[in-house]
Amino acid sequence: MNTYEMSISRLQAAKEHLAGGVASSLRASMKPTPLYAESAKGAHIRDVDGNEYIDYLLAYGPLILGHAHDGLTENVIQAMRNGYTFGLQHDGEIKLANLLAEVLPCAEKVALSGSGTEAVMLALRLSRAFTGKTKIVRFHGHYHGWSDSIFTSFPSSDMSQKASTGEAAKIPPGTFGQSENSLEDIIILPWNDPKALEETLRKHCHEIAAVITEPVMCNSGCIQPLPGYLEQMRKLTEELHIVMIMDEVITGFRLSLGGAHGRFGILPDLVIIGKAMGGGIAISAVAGKAEIMKLVDDGKVSHLGTLNGNCVSTAAAIATITQLSANNGAVYNQMEELFVELAEGIRLLLGKHRIPGIVNQIGPVFHMMFTDALEVNDFDTFNKRDSAKYTHFAELMLEEGVLLRPNGLWYISTAHQKSDIEATLHAIDRALIHL
Ligand SMILES: Cc1ncc(COP(=O)(O)O)c(C=O)c1O
Repeated sequence: MNTYEMSISRLQAAKEHLAGGVASSLRASMKPTPLYAESAKGAHIRDVDGNEYIDYLLAYGPLILGHAHDGLTENVIQAMRNGYTFGLQHDGEIKLANLLAEVLPCAEKVALSGSGTEAVMLALRLSRAFTGKTKIVRFHGHYHGWSDSIFTSFPSSDMSQKASTGEAAKIPPGTFGQSENSLEDIIILPWNDPKALEETLRKHCHEIAAVITEPVMCNSGCIQPLPGYLEQMRKLTEELHIVMIMDEVITGFRLSLGGAHGRFGILPDLVIIGKAMGGGIAISAVAGKAEIMKLVDDGKVSHLGTLNGNCVSTAAAIATITQLSANNGAVYNQMEELFVELAEGIRLLLGKHRIPGIVNQIGPVFHMMFTDALEVNDFDTFNKRDSAKYTHFAELMLEEGVLLRPNGLWYISTAHQKSDIEATLHAIDRALIHL
């Protein structure tokens, strides 16, 4: 039996001066307790009680090269020796912008920020300035960061709302402290519903500045777009002078070097990237059409941030993208093959143990859930999964030496090996006996 005593006592100590005891509210939900890390390398992490885990949480997504990657670490140290941040311009910014323009199909120009939330804020602002309109269409079950203008709680209180077609009741704030009116420019729609999309966009096109979508609904079940759905979104937004924003904070540099838009061959107007872009160092970007990004060139749209484009983050992003690009992005096949093997193995084990469940996978990310549904292709079905059972499963997996996100989303890194996948499948086989 693992013990978690050190983590439990660290949490008590942290609570004295650290609000909530954790640095991001979501992390408080881990059972049996939020863990304290001691060290990590590659695909493996060790907590302060000496428990060791194969890591599929991967810091909620950014660690695409695994923990403490040698090349990335070297590049960051080298950059730091030369100065962390100047408040002046430096060559790393130019190099990174050129690299992004090279690998992201939609990136004619880019703007650098520090987090996904900030990049979303910029993309919304650009859309409003470009179109002269104010409303933003977003979807049930998607997450776009925690800024007041778009946050509907995470994991989504929007989950309990009825789908709106534009004229429905006011959307309630996602958290105490958010103004009652902060979401009045948001229209919230069911995703993967071509009819609702077309009706709403046609009816309200005179006031809609942008449609923002996760290209794959990674935050709620890793649900893929219906065939033709994103293409329809592209066509309609183009026709109706609405900016199409793909929020690729999860899928960027994860589904492929060119993100989901590269993988699917769809060119949105703006793309938001974060997480994997810096391999675990804070950085994000908005990338997109020059005619929209030009609003930043002209100084018409303010894009601010003291630490934007700092030397540490740009060095990390350059190193990460360079690593991922080597041998024509061969690591993507490697990650995908391993994750297909893992997902297939999990499905077989669920069958063996007669436990109803689903694994929704696309490339190096999947969502595992316990549900009686035969497939989970929409948010309502996803919402009916047994999330408490999964949280219990994640706790059992800790005992078996595997670290999982308690909500069911799994990530893989380039550091994971076949032996990790095999060990994980054995661990699942043992854990499912107790479920
Ligand atoms: C799709 C999506 N957009 C935006 C964000 C916000 O990014 P950050 O946590 O870096 O602010 C997240 C975070 O999980 C996300 O999944």
